[in-house]
Parts: sequence; C-alpha cells; structure tokens
Amino acid sequence: MLSELRLVKDAFEIAELQRACDDTAVAFEAVVRDLPTAVAQGRGERWVEGVFGLHARHRGNAVGYDTIAASGDHACTLHWIRNDGDLSPDDLILIDAGIEVDSLYTADITRTLPISGRFSPAQRRVYEAVLDAQAAGFAAARPGATFIDVHNAAIRVIAERLHEWGLLPVSVDESLDPERGGQHRRWMVHGTSHHLGLDVHDCAEARNEFYKLGTLREGMVFTVEPGLYFKATDLLVPEEYRGVGVRIEDDIVITADGHRILSDQLPRGVAEIEAWMARLLG
Ligand code: GLY
Ligand code: MN
Ligand code: MN
Repeated sequence: MLSELRLVKDAFEIAELQRACDDTAVAFEAVVRDLPTAVAQGRGERWVEGVFGLHARHRGNAVGYDTIAASGDHACTLHWIRNDGDLSPDDLILIDAGIEVDSLYTADITRTLPISGRFSPAQRRVYEAVLDAQAAGFAAARPGATFIDVHNAAIRVIAERLHEWGLLPVSVDESLDPERGGQHRRWMVHGTSHHLGLDVHDCAEARNEFYKLGTLREGMVFTVEPGLYFKATDLLVPEEYRGVGVRIEDDIVITADGHRILSDQLPRGVAEIEAWMARLLG
C-alpha cells in the first residue's frame, strides 16, 4: 500500500529529487576533472567512486546506492560495484551514481564517457544507438501512456539497430514477440525504467497493474535507461564492438503535458559530451 501511495510525488518530493540531480551533476563534473589522475594512479575505478562519494557526503547525506564505476568490459557486468579496475584512455567508463540528499531522496544517473574525452567511431555508433533508444523512451513518456510503453519504445530502437548491424538472427518484430522473441535481450538484459524516490528502486512493492502496467500520471518520477552491452568474449559481435558497454540513464518527472528531465544539466549527446569534457579537462 505504501509503495502505491508513493507512486505520485508531491511538489516537495519533486523539488528534492531535482536537488539530488543537481548535486549529482556537480559530482559528475568533479569526477571528469579528476579522470587524468584516476588514469595515472591505477585502480582508477576506485578513484572515480571515491571522488563521487566525497561530493555525495559533502553535498548530501550519502550515495543513494553503491556507485558503479565500470571501465571497458566491466561495463558489461550489470552492477559492477567491485570498481577495482584500471582506466585506459582508449576505453569508455560507465558511471552509474546518484547523490541522496539530506531528506533521503536520491538521483540515479548514468553517463558513459570516453576516458580520453573523444569517442572512437565504434564507441560512437554503439553510444548513438543507445541515445536514440533513450530519445524514443522519452517521447513515449507522457500522462495517459502506460509505464511499459516507455520500455517498448526504447527497446524497439535497440532491436532495430542490432538488426541493421546484422546481429539479430531474426526480424525486429520476431525479436520483439513476447512469446517467442527476445533475441535482442542478449545485449540489453534489463528493463528501461523504474520509479525513483526515497529508494533508488522506489515503489517496488506496488502491484503490477499500478506499476509496470500502470498509467503514467503527473508527478510520477522514474528513470529512462536503455543500454547495449557487448562483452569482450562475445563472438557474435564484430571485434570492434567487443568490450563496449553503454548505458545512458536520466531521471524524469511526468508533467501535465509530457515530461521534464530532472537530470538535463548533464550533457548526453556525443558532441555535447566531448565539448563538456574538453572544457572540464582544460
Ligand atoms: N543504479 C541502479 C539502477 O540504475 O537501477
Ligand atoms: Mn536506474
Ligand atoms: Mn542507475
């Protein structure tokens, strides 16, 4: 019952979640500024976790959940929280981290960044597929739609892109068939969204008809976080994609006529990320 009561956030809660996202954006900037140090020190994933944690403790109560700092192939392990890897300038780093403010509301944001500051052509192709999937998810997020519509919109783009690249052994529609499909799920094994609030996976005990199959209402806050994960050992994908894992995660609130992205202060387009990193890295 409490989970269901928490599905729609009031103005105070939305303001706290906005603050959590604003603070998290500041901590992400601090992490980017420190990437050269993280590369140089070794165990750079721990360095990233530590810098984020410093700002989480300074600006808010703590991290809202264990920070995922996953470079290279580690990004393909969904909740990589061991964070003991080195950072290599040729790799991407997937950083999934959120600050929990003093009122205990938390952000949940992922950015996948080129450690050097510039995406390689293959990294960029994978990244832009995920970005397009996220854009499709955003477009489906409005009052009156169902929660699962957001996932369905995003996952169709993922399946389409995998098909274009010749990776799907079936058609897009066959892969999306709920009974017999799912071939695309080899490369995106999680859902696109979950509610967000006091818990990172908020309202988790709500009944299916109010959560997954529920209708989106003004004041609902949830993530949109598609991904593509090509393990280094995956012989089904071209060599240039192996060891590339990308997730882009933003937090949105449903408004009267659509949605607002609470984490929009962090860039997510390729050119915007490269320009942002160039500025921060001087
Ligand atoms: N950070 C956990 C999640 O994205 O669900
Ligand atoms: Mn999430
Ligand atoms: Mn996350």
